[in-house]
Amino acid sequence: MRVSKSPHKTAAPRPRVAPHIAALPKSGIRDFFELVNAMEDVISLGIGEPDFVTPWKIREATIYSLQRGFTHYTSNLGDPKLRLAVCKYFARRFGGSYDPKTECIITVGVSEGLDIAARAVISPGDEVLYHEPCYVSYAPTVRMAHGVPIAVVTHAEHDFVLQVEDLEKAVTSKTKVLMLNYPNNPTGAGMTAEDKQKIAEFAVKHDLLVFSDEIYDELSYIPRSPSIATLPGMRDRTIVFNGFSKAFAMTGYRIGYAVGPHDLIDAMMKVHQYSMLCAPGPSQFGAIEALTNADGERETMHDEYEQRRNVIVKRFNGLGLHCFKPRGAFYVFPDIRSTGMTSMAFATSLLKEQRVAVIPGTAFGECGEGFVRCSYATSMADIETAMERIGKFLRKRGLP
Ligand SMILES: Cc1ncc(COP(=O)(O)O)c(C=O)c1O
Repeated sequence: MRVSKSPHKTAAPRPRVAPHIAALPKSGIRDFFELVNAMEDVISLGIGEPDFVTPWKIREATIYSLQRGFTHYTSNLGDPKLRLAVCKYFARRFGGSYDPKTECIITVGVSEGLDIAARAVISPGDEVLYHEPCYVSYAPTVRMAHGVPIAVVTHAEHDFVLQVEDLEKAVTSKTKVLMLNYPNNPTGAGMTAEDKQKIAEFAVKHDLLVFSDEIYDELSYIPRSPSIATLPGMRDRTIVFNGFSKAFAMTGYRIGYAVGPHDLIDAMMKVHQYSMLCAPGPSQFGAIEALTNADGERETMHDEYEQRRNVIVKRFNGLGLHCFKPRGAFYVFPDIRSTGMTSMAFATSLLKEQRVAVIPGTAFGECGEGFVRCSYATSMADIETAMERIGKFLRKRGLP
């Protein structure tokens, strides 16, 4: 019997998920929190968001905008009043001068800002230097834009400040962008004016664009220096990202901004316009209030974090776990190598035995091995209890 061949060729199976997305790891922090959420009576030093509620006057301004019926799309770039407020605030607090009409875009948090900037400037195969340990989204953001993230390790002996010698080893003719985040999540590292100067010279020398994520800059505990964008040769090559999540305790508002040269902001605008349209309107009204009328509230939160930082650093060092004094943000990154445990073993045993949640340093890059991230965006009472429990955990093992 003759079997007639089907006229339709069976197509070779194609992956349903794009390979570059399938290859992305899920965030290590989320995995760990699955474990934490399943337990009771846990004190969490794992959280990366303020424990403060958004100041009332900001919430009130948001509610008032809703009452007045401001519930529509805003301009793609963001409400002009907010862009004006951002540029004035930026000049006042960070030193750079930007045109609200052409050099500023309101984004759905710094998260969206980084994503649209990456998509706007990276071509397939472009290399992007970033420092590790770092915020979990950096390498995935670059990969999602078809770029190649190149990690440059920072070291405890330099208090996790990026060194030009290490950057020089990693830069190639394909490098297009350098991503920076100081003050830093997860280490609390911060850059002095001299540190910024050295990095700026490196960027100019290699003709790199710089993405400077300054979301923790208002939470600095060393004298603040102007943004890296203000240094010679930097304005035209730097996009600065900032937002409201951390300094104003507005994580759920999902609002941030980017300022930079017109051509780059304009390119980001195209991606934003087609993917996001605009940032949430009510959040934009809250953000205007934050920038124009909430310095006092921001300073009160800053001072409270600073006090907590001083306590937690002292307590870790007192327990024999070396902890450098962070220059900013709300994280400490104690060195747990003296326990002989891996970061993951330390974090899981501490959680199971003493019900204290800390994040293994490896969630922020392999070079985070030997460290854990502890957030002090939690009450002083919880910090004290957590430290007592960590003390018990160590004593049980004959440490220090
Ligand atoms: C360094 C850094 N950048 C960006 C973000 C995200 O900020 P946003 O809430 O503005 O999207 C975070 C959040 O933890 C962060 O730590």
